[in-house]
Amino acid sequence: MSEYWKKFPVNSPFALDFRAEHGAGYMEVHPQKGPQKSFIACSGGISGEERRDQDFPLIFYGGAAGGGKSWSLLADALKYIDCPYFYAVFFRKTIKQLKRTLWKEAKKMYMPLLIDKKGKFIGKANIKEQDMIIVFPSGALFEFSYLDRDSDCEQNWQGAEITAAYFD
Ligand SMILES: Nc1ncnc2c1ncn2[C@@H]1O[C@H](COP(=O)(O)OP(=O)(O)OP(=O)(O)O)[C@@H](O)[C@H]1O
Ligand SMILES: [Mg+2]
Repeated sequence: MSEYWKKFPVNSPFALDFRAEHGAGYMEVHPQKGPQKSFIACSGGISGEERRDQDFPLIFYGGAAGGGKSWSLLADALKYIDCPYFYAVFFRKTIKQLKRTLWKEAKKMYMPLLIDKKGKFIGKANIKEQDMIIVFPSGALFEFSYLDRDSDCEQNWQGAEITAAYFD
């Protein structure tokens, strides 16, 4: 198990800082007071460890249009990106929706953690545009995919070892 879990940021705001390791990559995450803060304070729990007060295997977060729900999903997953084997998948109903919303926002939000001052990817960081995959300097991987019907799930995700699933 990664040492990172022990330092797990349950309290917001939190900062991601790869500068000591990679010479670049810094970002602060500031959830808004209210539902964003509560959402980010929750976690899915750590497999194999005893359940803590802030662990919930399933978390629902609703709210008004433009209230910051999609942002919260993207920000939440950042808590885990020091773990090289972390694999998050973000689902929306269609690829078109993803391209117009989450995928676009994700690249914008995560860029400061992926590139150095010269614009070169740091560590294992990478963006795979066709596959809609973002790899972080540690190797942690975020994938963006569609999920509409039960059959999509069976065909594409049966047996996949996903660490966290986010449904927007
Ligand atoms: N804590 C935050 N810090 C910085 N920007 C934020 C924060 N929360 C939300 N935003 C920005 O506010 C805008 C609206 O947020 P977001 O798209 O997450 O809302 P939403 O609830 O998903 O909206 P919709 O219901 O339309 O899907 C976005 O541009 C997002 O990047
Ligand atoms: Mg949204």
